[in-house]
Amino acid sequence: MPSSILTRTFLWLPLVLALAACGGGDDTAGGGGDGSSGGEDDEWSDWDDDEEPEVESHHGAIEALGISGPDQPWADMSHEDREWYMVGKVLPIMKEMFAEHDADRWGSGYGCDTCHGENGPEVEYEMPPMSSYKVPQPGSQAWTSMEGIFGETVTFMAETVTPTMGTLLGIDDYTCFHCHPRAE
Ligand code: HEC
Ligand code: HEC
Repeated sequence: MPSSILTRTFLWLPLVLALAACGGGDDTAGGGGDGSSGGEDDEWSDWDDDEEPEVESHHGAIEALGISGPDQPWADMSHEDREWYMVGKVLPIMKEMFAEHDADRWGSGYGCDTCHGENGPEVEYEMPPMSSYKVPQPGSQAWTSMEGIFGETVTFMAETVTPTMGTLLGIDDYTCFHCHPRAE
């Protein structure tokens, strides 16, 4: 029956991949004394152990995905393509970057809403969200006082977050005002 062949293939494929990823080496040792017939299960649990710890995945995104632009110009991407790009690249990279800058503030709970605000889905992720901090005009007195209040955060925003976002979207001259509303 064709359907059962399909089912079997799909059941086995991830296992084959997991085995291949282990490089054929026989290092199932971590599994312990599970006995003779549990070989495959041990591979599975080793695989899971490697992927699960949060710290590991946090430190891998920038290296694994790379800070580069999309394959297709952002302007030509559909709403859905943009959403997938956010899920697969922008969020993991930015999450790692923010956490590395200030783990106390951004080490956990960083998600789409950190940039898009609570009502992101309702407004179709339109940027900037009105709930976000309002950034004053560069060069103004208010800008200087923002630097006084937020110090390091402003440097991080200007030197890391803004250029990285520009690169990830392939847009030149990216500014604060793509993510923050303007202060009056
Ligand atoms: C680091 C900040 C950041 C994070 C995190 C983030 N986004 Fe975005 N997102 C943006 C910015 C900035 C834009 C607007 C890009 C532009 O057009 O200049 C955007 C645009 C979008 C768009 C396209 C909106 C449109 O008008 O077409 C969608 C959809 C989207 N984001 C969904 C998501 C989802 C879903 C997540 C979580 C998986 C997410 N974003 C996480 C910053 C972020
Ligand atoms: C890619 C989007 C993005 C860009 C571009 C960006 N920011 Fe931010 N900014 C954020 C996010 C996300 C936060 C954290 C919000 C949170 O934790 O709730 C933030 C936080 C801040 C804060 C702290 C506000 C507070 O209430 O603690 C300041 C100040 C700030 N940004 C200023 C700037 C300035 C100035 C620029 C331009 C030089 C800029 N940002 C560019 C996304 C952005």
